[in-house]
Amino acid sequence: IVTDVLSCGDSKLPPHALPPFQCCPQTPASDTRVTNFTFPDPAEPLRRRRPAHDASAAEDMAKYERAVALMKALPESDPRSFYQQSRIHCAYCTGAYRQAGSPELPVQIHFSWLFFPFHRAYVYFFERVAAKLLGDPGFTVPFWSWDVPEGMRIPPAFADEASPLYDPIRNPRHAPPRVVDLDYSHADKNYTDEQHIQLNLRTMYKQMITNAPLPSLFHGQPYRAGDRQRPGVGTVEQRPHNTLHVWTGDISQPNHENMGTYYSAARDPIFYLHHPNSDRLWMVWLELDLDLDDDSDRPRHSDFTDPDWLDSSFLFYDEDARLVRVTVRDMLDMGRLRYTYAEVDMPWLKARP
Ligand code: C2O
Repeated sequence: IVTDVLSCGDSKLPPHALPPFQCCPQTPASDTRVTNFTFPDPAEPLRRRRPAHDASAAEDMAKYERAVALMKALPESDPRSFYQQSRIHCAYCTGAYRQAGSPELPVQIHFSWLFFPFHRAYVYFFERVAAKLLGDPGFTVPFWSWDVPEGMRIPPAFADEASPLYDPIRNPRHAPPRVVDLDYSHADKNYTDEQHIQLNLRTMYKQMITNAPLPSLFHGQPYRAGDRQRPGVGTVEQRPHNTLHVWTGDISQPNHENMGTYYSAARDPIFYLHHPNSDRLWMVWLELDLDLDDDSDRPRHSDFTDPDWLDSSFLFYDEDARLVRVTVRDMLDMGRLRYTYAEVDMPWLKARP
């Protein structure tokens, strides 16, 4: 799947969507050239993203708050503004982009093998834009570690009405200290916190191990040029990723805005902490073989090697507001992208249902 700079047009928003209704990124000037992605300088220090719940991330959280305030203060036409950043997501999941060569076919990066690489690239550019605005090249986004018991709540900074991280369009009943339900389906369960935590750990085990032995099961099904959208969702995309979107959104809004529906999800600043955690789980899934010794005949976890996956490409604005084309292939080596994740304990590894 290749996205073309000229192919962004009308999006299909759900009924009763909240404004703004236009999702395409700022139209590039006619002389804008799309540059191909280049890797950061290998001498650049490795950024280590930290878990939001942990004291080690306190400084990153404060910086993130400042970065969001700076992005919200930019003119809406600036591709680095919070407004434009949130529209990237809207464009890539409402059919605003069409497949290069097949204008009748919308591009939808969810429910397919594009889910992990697209969101990796998204957070990569978002983080670098934030770092540039902060004047702090080492800045890293914290991750909302909802797979770890200590992280199974919305980080408290997001619930402070005076903070730029606050979003009034969330489910008020799920404000912290409410424990998340990774298995949520539109109704709150009558569980104690401890019961929720145990259920969450088992959900993690199922989605990361039991149900995800193959790349097509973990990542999602192949989606090639000429294919219809949504060929099949991957385990972690479906839950906890999707379930947490809906759990966070406001159930009294027509489409569970903001987080609970694609077009508006990235309007909530928690989106940019939710995605690094899914991204981290991609890394964890690839490394799992080393940690598990229960089923010796389990296939080794590995990514696709299919060129249709590797050559799929997306468009982003970088920290200098240049339009960049990035391929899935570009997104596979976190070391070359100069970031990694702090290690956290993962008790779900022992939560075999
Ligand atoms: Cu693009 Cu969390 O969805």
